[in-house]
Formats: sequence, C-alpha cells, structure tokens
Amino acid sequence: MIVAIDGPAASGKGTLAKRLAAHYGLPHLDTGLIYRGVGRIMVDRGFPLDNVEIATTIAENLDLADLDPERLRTKDAGEAASVVAAHGPVRKALIDLQRAFATQAGGAVLDGRDIGTVIAPDAEAKLFITASAEERARRRFRELVGRGEITDTPAGFADVLADILKRDARDSGRAAAPLLVAADAVTIDTTALGIEEAFAAALAVVEARRR
Ligand code: CDP
Ligand code: CDP
Repeated sequence: MIVAIDGPAASGKGTLAKRLAAHYGLPHLDTGLIYRGVGRIMVDRGFPLDNVEIATTIAENLDLADLDPERLRTKDAGEAASVVAAHGPVRKALIDLQRAFATQAGGAVLDGRDIGTVIAPDAEAKLFITASAEERARRRFRELVGRGEITDTPAGFADVLADILKRDARDSGRAAAPLLVAADAVTIDTTALGIEEAFAAALAVVEARRR
C-alpha cells in the first residue's frame, strides 16, 4: 500500500505521515527534506539559489542517507528549499529516488507537495492535509520559538506568518509540479483538530482505501 500525503507548510502532514507509517509498519519518506537538502547545500556553499544548473547537479548527487533532519528543519533551509523546488530540472533529478522509495516491496508512506499528483499517482490512499494560514503560522511559530530560532514576540509571529504566506504563493504558483489537490485525494482540514483527532480522520480514510 502506498499512502500519499500532500499539503502546505506546517499543515501537520509530516506528523500524520509518521503516525500512519508507525501504525502500518511502513517506511516513511519526508520528501520536503530532499528539497531542504538541496537548498541547504546551495546556501552553505554560497551558490545563488536561482542557479538551476548547480542546483540540478546537487540534486542528481543527493543521497537520502545524508539528510540530517536536525540541520534541515531550519527556517532558512525551508525558504531555500521552496526556491530550488520551483526549478523543473531539479524536480526531475529527484523523481527516481522518490518513486523507488514509494514502490518498494510492502509499501510506503510519503509526504510532500506532489506525491499524489506526480510521484505516486497510483497510490491507494491520498490525503491532502490543510489548515488556515494563521493556524499553520501558530504551529510553526511554536516550533521555532521552542528551538530558539526566533523570539517570542508579536513581530516574531508576524514574520513567521509572512513566511508561510510567501511559501504558499510560491509552492502553489510555480509551473513545475505546483501544490494541487489530486482528483482522488481526500482533504482533511486540521485547523480545529488536535493531532489525535487529525490522526483518527486520516486513519479512517486510509482504512477505507485499503485493498
Ligand atoms: O515542513 P514544511 O511544510 O514547512 O516544508 P517541507 O515539506 O519540508 O518542504 C520545504 C519546501 O520543499 C516546500 O516549501 C516546497 O517548495 C518543497 N517541496 C516540494 O516542492 N515538493 C515536495 N514533494 C516536498 C517539498
Ligand atoms: O509536515 P508539516 O510541515 O505539514 O507539519 P508538521 O511538522 O507535521 O506539524 C507542524 C507542527 O504543528 C508540529 O509541531 C505539530 O506538532 C503541530 N501540529 C498541531 O499542533 N496540530 C495538528 N493537528 C498537527 C500538527
């Protein structure tokens, strides 16, 4: 069984993907980490993010085993990820490793922006996880304050909300694999749902789609 989970930044898709993977004993791939990995290397080496050729070479040589979530979950890596992820050749270079993960024997859970539309269009279960921009900003804000990346002030929150809106516009507005709800996906709006409630809703959808 392939479970495809897509949605905008901080909608809770990663949390659900992890929970579903644990529930079914399936491997999980957070595909955002792949784009964050490319963005991180570009930033660390001082390459301009609009250099498609360099970003594509980095993508072609990326190794899943090298992706360290701790270093990649930062604000600047997310921002850089969304810039390099808009380059068609970068996305193309990353398709095979994602499809190989999705189609491994026994199945897999993947989360990202284009899993149900591009990476695994034949997935048995497709979820589109969303929440209001304000709620997503609140969630991301709590994480960043907790890690000491930003200050717990109204200006800090305004900054995170602006980032979320900018990322939404970039991810939805790009020509290459924009964030779209797959025709056969079930949308779950988690704005008013806690993690347990969101998990119960997601599990019900996957159970209904299971062969
Ligand atoms: O956790 P968050 O939703 O903030 O971001 P992420 O899932 O780690 O993804 C970071 C960026 O990578 C996104 O803003 C997208 O631009 C890009 N991405 C993508 O284009 N396609 C994917 N399948 C996953 C991520
Ligand atoms: O993967 P994505 O960026 O979509 O989001 P996430 O990393 O799963 O969730 C972002 C934050 O929101 C995490 O700190 C979750 O614990 C929190 N969250 C929440 O408060 N309520 C939910 N229903 C889902 C996630």
